[in-house]
Amino acid sequence: MASASSIAASIASKTKTKKKHFVAQKVKLFRASDPLLSVLMWGVNHSINELSHVQIPIMLMPDDFKAYSKIKVDNHLFNKENMPSHFKFKEYCPLVFRNLRERFGIDDQDFLNSLTRSAPLNSEAQGRSGARFHTSYDKRYVIKTISSEDVAEMHNILKKYHQFIVECHGNTLLPQFLGMYRLTVDGDETYMIVTRNVFSHRLSVYKKYDLKGSTVAREASDKEKQPPPPEDVPPRPKSGNVQQRLQTLRIATRFYCAMKHVRDAKELPTYKDNDFINDGQKIYIDEENKKMFLEKLRKDVEFLAQLKLMDYSLLVGIHDVERSEQEEVESEDNEAEEEGESDGGGIGTPPDSPSNTLDSTKPLSPGEFDPAIDVYAIKSNDSAPRKEVYFMAVIDILQHYDAKKKAAHAAKTVKHGAGAEISTVNPEQYSKRFYDFITTILS
Ligand SMILES: *[C@@H]1O[C@H](CO)[C@@H](O)[C@H](O)[C@H]1NC(C)=O
Ligand SMILES: *[C@@H]1O[C@H](CO)[C@@H](O)[C@H](O)[C@H]1NC(C)=O
Repeated sequence: MASASSIAASIASKTKTKKKHFVAQKVKLFRASDPLLSVLMWGVNHSINELSHVQIPIMLMPDDFKAYSKIKVDNHLFNKENMPSHFKFKEYCPLVFRNLRERFGIDDQDFLNSLTRSAPLNSEAQGRSGARFHTSYDKRYVIKTISSEDVAEMHNILKKYHQFIVECHGNTLLPQFLGMYRLTVDGDETYMIVTRNVFSHRLSVYKKYDLKGSTVAREASDKEKQPPPPEDVPPRPKSGNVQQRLQTLRIATRFYCAMKHVRDAKELPTYKDNDFINDGQKIYIDEENKKMFLEKLRKDVEFLAQLKLMDYSLLVGIHDVERSEQEEVESEDNEAEEEGESDGGGIGTPPDSPSNTLDSTKPLSPGEFDPAIDVYAIKSNDSAPRKEVYFMAVIDILQHYDAKKKAAHAAKTVKHGAGAEISTVNPEQYSKRFYDFITTILS
């Protein structure tokens, strides 16, 4: 076991350390259906525990924005299905992200509990299609699989982003970046970034939009809108010998697990700008909330334009209070049946973890939320036809103009013709168009 102090010292020295620590893991406790998630849980537990031994510095140093900590695990007592026998876990800029968590009002032990008490859940709920998403089991955090280019871009912007968060006191619609990791399993590197969930950890969203203020290809495709296709239900096992019936049962079980997965992941289509307009969708919020929201948004997009970032979206989720109450009543029976069947089947509760931090929430009445947790939530105003709660925040901010130009120049021109709207805007124009569009949807 590498001593905690040696890692603590290597983080504290604020230097790029390449020292590797070999650890023989004693007991396997973190289990998820996906070995990568087990590694993530293990790594977050490791990282937060290590950090708890590192004194909080008076201020961050320039080197903190380049630092990382790394650990290599060679595990001899392993269960192949749940935990890989060999893996590496790297955390980028641990002190910076700890500082950011603090500024966003997130306690490290709560963060640890959210990410490790039970396996993260599969989710397609947010952002660009193609990217892999999970939420923490308690839905407070979103874990996104990102590219190495995104990691590089994060490093490029991290110092300015941190400065911006300091200046706005964490009061922003930009993503709350809370931790960035690299996981190496079987020689494959996977990068993940954790952010606060834009949507609520308890109020369900029935409709969501991804808005950019652009009209080119900004509607959900038919495929995106469709509910998952009804598949052939496998035959019920009723006759045949035991072997055949068992086989049928196995197929049926796999089928239902797959369907549950599809239903959880695909239920909510992502609608876009043109859908919003064609639906006649309205966001009913009162003047004061609107003013505060637009003021934040203006500062945020000015900042993004300065960094030459573009192509970001406003993610909008709508919670319908009455509809949810209805659905809750209807699904109560089903839920009782499904209880205990968590995503990975395993719950890794470290016996020594503090357990007093999560369950302090008072019961809330329908449509109520805790603004310290659901930081993006805004209630509908008095003239709204239905009682609703809106969740709105900026997502997908890591697209840099120069990188985009290179990649898009050829492809976009071919697709939309030279001079098409999308190929001509720069980050400054993008931010203005984006802001103007969001202003119009709020009035
Ligand atoms: C979590 O980290 C602590 C401190 O490093 C360690 O003692 C504990 O065994 C870890 N939990 C699991 C389940 O690995
Ligand atoms: C509620 O929101 C709508 C849509 O933005 C707006 O037209 C209306 O004036 C607002 N009503 C109140 C009472 O704020």
